Amino acid sequence: MIIVLDGPSGSGKSTLAKMLSKVLDIPYFDTGAMYRSFCWFLIDQKVALDDEEKIKMLLDEMNFEIKMDEDEQHYIVNGTDITRKIRNEEVTKNVSKVSAYLFVRKHLVQIQRKLGESKVGIFEGRDMGTVVFPHADIKFFLYADPNIRAIRRFEQLKGNFPLKNFKKDRVLEELLKRDKYDSTREHSPLRQADDAVLIDVSYLTIDQVFSKIKEHIEEKKS
Ligand code: DC
Repeated sequence: MIIVLDGPSGSGKSTLAKMLSKVLDIPYFDTGAMYRSFCWFLIDQKVALDDEEKIKMLLDEMNFEIKMDEDEQHYIVNGTDITRKIRNEEVTKNVSKVSAYLFVRKHLVQIQRKLGESKVGIFEGRDMGTVVFPHADIKFFLYADPNIRAIRRFEQLKGNFPLKNFKKDRVLEELLKRDKYDSTREHSPLRQADDAVLIDVSYLTIDQVFSKIKEHIEEKKS
């Protein structure tokens, strides 16, 4: 069964994908982490993010692996574990730009479809239901009020980088900028697939959302 979860950043997709993966005992794939990994790689190589020719050349030089370690997935680029690094501010600020390039998307979509060839998996991202897996068995689109998402993101950042001084307003500003960029870009913008189940998660706990998703999956299975 291929299950897809799309939605804006901070809507809880990753947490839900991990929970589902455990309960259903099938793998999950965080496709945003793939875009982040490539963005990190470009920054690490000191490439200007508007240098399309150079970025094209580097696409094949990124060897991307996912390793499962107890509860956490690790992202390895050319032998280096960058799981934490891809969540840093610089990557977060620039990843929308990198993910807007059509040639980057084509390359990563190919990897994502390959991961889905076994027809078993939970894929979370922005275009899973619309572009990557239009025939997924079940599709979810999560919506959440931007102010609520910003608060969640702020708490997450404080937890991940306790020594940094984050400001809530800045987090909201960045989030709105990224939402706009992701949903207005020319290629595969963030959009709800026509056949996706829409869940407004703004005022629900993660457990409540999880129960709703599970109910839909059970219904689909029967
Ligand atoms: O979910 P996230 O915040 O980690 O995603 C990082 C970026 O990658 C975000 O700007 C949107 C982009 N992205 C995308 O364009 N397509 C996907 N399938 C997943 C993420």
